[in-house]
Amino acid sequence: MKTIYPADLAHRERHQFLLSGVAPRPIALVSSMDSQGNHNLSPFSFFNAYSSKPPILAIGPAIAAKTGKAKDTWLNILETGECVVNTVSYAMVESMNLASCEYEKGVDEFEKSGLSKVPSVLVAPPRVQESAYQMECKLMQNIELRRDLGGNGNIMLLEVVCFHVADSVLVDGKVDPRRMDLVARMGYDYYCRADVNSIFEVQKPRWNGIGVDALPHHIRESTVLTGNDLAKLAGVQVLPMLDGSFPRFDREFRADSVEIELANNDPEAALYVLLALQRTHDRAQLQRIAKAFLALDKIEEAWQTLLLEG
Ligand SMILES: Cc1cc2nc3c(=O)[nH]c(=O)nc-3n(C[C@H](O)[C@H](O)[C@H](O)COP(=O)(O)O)c2cc1C
Repeated sequence: MKTIYPADLAHRERHQFLLSGVAPRPIALVSSMDSQGNHNLSPFSFFNAYSSKPPILAIGPAIAAKTGKAKDTWLNILETGECVVNTVSYAMVESMNLASCEYEKGVDEFEKSGLSKVPSVLVAPPRVQESAYQMECKLMQNIELRRDLGGNGNIMLLEVVCFHVADSVLVDGKVDPRRMDLVARMGYDYYCRADVNSIFEVQKPRWNGIGVDALPHHIRESTVLTGNDLAKLAGVQVLPMLDGSFPRFDREFRADSVEIELANNDPEAALYVLLALQRTHDRAQLQRIAKAFLALDKIEEAWQTLLLEG
């Protein structure tokens, strides 16, 4: 493992190194307006939400380290106290990228990027029509970061005064992330896409799990079960005991190969074969079957399979 101190890195290197570790970051496509009424649109990935009561976001428009030039977005929001944060879907990623070009102040990046304006309700800057989720914001506070040390960062705390969401991304009144198809920024020129292939669910713990430290030693030391597998097993409320009625097969099997059944994602059939072969002393096979149950979120079955060892 390499140990790195920020002061030992050149600015550019430190910037990319930091961004590689704080990733993926959501992207705020921020529309703002100066006091003359010129519109501006720029992306910021120093962006997140920090409060929901009231809803408060933060963006970090920096002073350019090379030129010392302040971002127009920053100047506009300081001047007028308003902006709109628009989310960025995969369908808009190239337009968003174009809007990040360093155009002169007063140049309208809506025009440059080809993205369309829709009037806002409570603030003057327009929203981005192509964005499925938009937040009208008022500036709450601007924090300049370590100017005493030559720092170039800023944090703008923005209070959301109005949300807009496309009907197409709502399913049963909830935002469906698969329909949002958001993109996020990583280090260097890398992005990632939160689409149907990469989104998954992890249920919130419903109680305090027993913890990995409470698992039997031979399970904790398993070379088959991963850290994620152990954490799933350790999420139970109490250490399970063998249930004499396990397994209760309520279907017929014509199986005779643990390998084939596991490859086919059918731990129940694999367990049937192991029992038929009277091989419950085979700890590694039991753990592989338990692992397959865990992959299907069948925690109780995984535990009972491990407890069959004997
Ligand atoms: C995906 C993406 C994320 C960005 N995030 C930031 C950021 O968090 N802070 C920043 O100062 N610049 C960021 N930039 C660069 C600005 O978008 C760029 O400097 C832009 O031209 C600023 O425009 P403005 O001067 O019109 O506000 C980002 C660029 C891209 C493409």
